[in-house]
Amino acid sequence: MTAILFIHGFPFDHTMWRRQVVALPRWQSIAPDLAGVGETPGPASTDEYSVALYAADLVAMLDRLKVEQTVICGLSMGGYIAFELLRRHARRVRGAILCNTKAAADTPEAKQDRDAMTVLAKQSGSSAIAERLLPKLLARATFERRPEIVSEVRGMMTRASVPGIIGALHALRERPDSTPLLKTIGVPVLVIAGEEDQIAPAAGMREMAGTIPGARFVVISEAGHVAPLEQPDAVNTAIGEFLRNLD
Ligand code: MLT
Repeated sequence: MTAILFIHGFPFDHTMWRRQVVALPRWQSIAPDLAGVGETPGPASTDEYSVALYAADLVAMLDRLKVEQTVICGLSMGGYIAFELLRRHARRVRGAILCNTKAAADTPEAKQDRDAMTVLAKQSGSSAIAERLLPKLLARATFERRPEIVSEVRGMMTRASVPGIIGALHALRERPDSTPLLKTIGVPVLVIAGEEDQIAPAAGMREMAGTIPGARFVVISEAGHVAPLEQPDAVNTAIGEFLRNLD
């Protein structure tokens, strides 16, 4: 049975994938919480967090589960970690699904924003982070017609731990540029964009997909930055088709 490893974004947790896990019973779904999230312990110092550390943790988990190869499916920060897996652990990767993500590293302005968020998390906690991020995360239709999704996303961010948030901000700020990796990717790739994503805009994702040999590109309507949660049916159809073609 092909395994699929779901890698959540920031500052989310594994529950963001629950609609994919139930919809794809033909495959072995693995949806962990990353270091510093939920019950998963993080390193002693928030400076030790990195995309390399998250990726190494995931490989250690695959070893424990005796999963030799897996399809990886990462959203946003999960996509940055997917790039790290493709760079350093390519033989463990059977295929990759890149949702609402981008290859470039943080700009100097983005790094300043990470620093400001770190201060906000220290001073005011996870609910302040949730309120700051929420307006950028979801499509207009989600805000207008899906209050249950808005409160699910807010709740997920509010229960994030402050050390986990600060550690992730450090990992995001210091992540490498994955643009040079794109043309070297040698496994099948599906790129999923949200039509109204303000953080990883669909136009940039289309360009990214065009650089990855043979990548398939899908835009999800009425979805922002969290397409698998906002439009699970459309996302599950795209993932299911991709997985069936791999089998
Ligand atoms: C995420 O959803 O993981 C974040 O938006 C990533 C980022 O801020 O770069």
